[in-house]
Formats: sequence, C-alpha cells, structure tokens
Amino acid sequence: MGCGGGKTVQELARISSSGKVFGIDYSKEMIQLAHKINKKFVENGHVEIMHGSVSSLPFPDGMLNLVTAFEAYYFWPNLIDDLKEIKRVLKPGGILLIANEVYQHEKFEKRNLKWAKWGDMMLHTPEEYREFLTEAGYFDVAIFDISEKNWIAAVAKKQ
Ligand SMILES: C[S@@+](CC[C@H](N)C(=O)[O-])C[C@H]1O[C@@H](n2cnc3c(N)ncnc32)[C@H](O)[C@@H]1O
Repeated sequence: MGCGGGKTVQELARISSSGKVFGIDYSKEMIQLAHKINKKFVENGHVEIMHGSVSSLPFPDGMLNLVTAFEAYYFWPNLIDDLKEIKRVLKPGGILLIANEVYQHEKFEKRNLKWAKWGDMMLHTPEEYREFLTEAGYFDVAIFDISEKNWIAAVAKKQ
C-alpha cells in the first residue's frame, strides 16, 4: 500500500514463489517507477502495479492474505477509515503489516518534527498505533519498536 518506487514490491516478489504481489499508489509517477523496477515480474504475471488510493482500493472484499505499508501510513487522509478499507480487502485471518523508520518519541522529537512538517506526515507513539489499529477493528495487534533507532513495526489481524 503506497508502493512508491516499488522496492518492497520487488522484494516481496523475490521471496514469494507463488501467488501475486500488487503494488498500489496514488501517484502516477511512482506507478511508472514501480512498473519499471518490477518489469520482469510484471511481464511474467507475478506482480501487478495499479493506480489507486488507500481510501478506495480496487479489490473485492476478502481477497488478500497480506497488506504491507512501508513508510506509507503517515500520509493517509482518513487513518481509521483507510485502515477499515484495508481490512475490507483482507481475507479473514489476513494480516496488515505497517513498518516505519520514524515514530513519535521525545528522544527524536526535534528531528521528527522537522520531517513531519517537511513531508506533511502524521506521527504516533507505539501506544497510539495499538489504539488506532484496535479502533479500526483489528485483532492480535503486536507492536515492535526499536527505540534506539526510532523504528517501528505493527502487525494486526482481521478476525
Ligand atoms: C515513502 S513512499 C512509500 C515507499 C514504499 N512503500 C517502498 O516500500 O518503497 C509513500 C508513498 O505513499 C503514497 N501515498 C500517499 N498517500 C496515498 C494514498 N492516500 N493512497 C495511495 N498511496 C498514497 C505516495 O504517493 C508515496 O509513493
């Protein structure tokens, strides 16, 4: 979700021997880049790059096993509704993985404020990650934070 230039899509395609990896982004420029970098996988049908918004995903209910959002949720326009839209397209038992190299923490406040302003990004504490995922209706929420680096990952399940 928010596949940007397509690096994560490429990595997921490399490590998956079957199934299909979709990359979605609302920037047409990023879609072109992601398409280019994944050309080989697009041609053999293992990857599909699509233009779309997290707020209205081009998939039917319950289609996907896993949705990843690397460095992406900060920009979503309606966090809770957008998380619910992702939940809609996950299968029962499907997983959402959010991974970011910045989250709200007093130790990194100065740098993070600068980044957040520059990129118009929302930042949350690990506790707030748990709260917004729970509010959006996810279960088995697990938060992993590497506080010395200010990195965070959240894993949550659709029931
Ligand atoms: C920092 S990049 C993500 C990098 C990428 N996930 C990767 O692994 O290389 C953030 C991306 O989110 C996309 N984005 C922001 N808001 C979005 C939205 N509402 N719907 C879809 N994509 C969005 C931006 O266009 C941008 O390409």
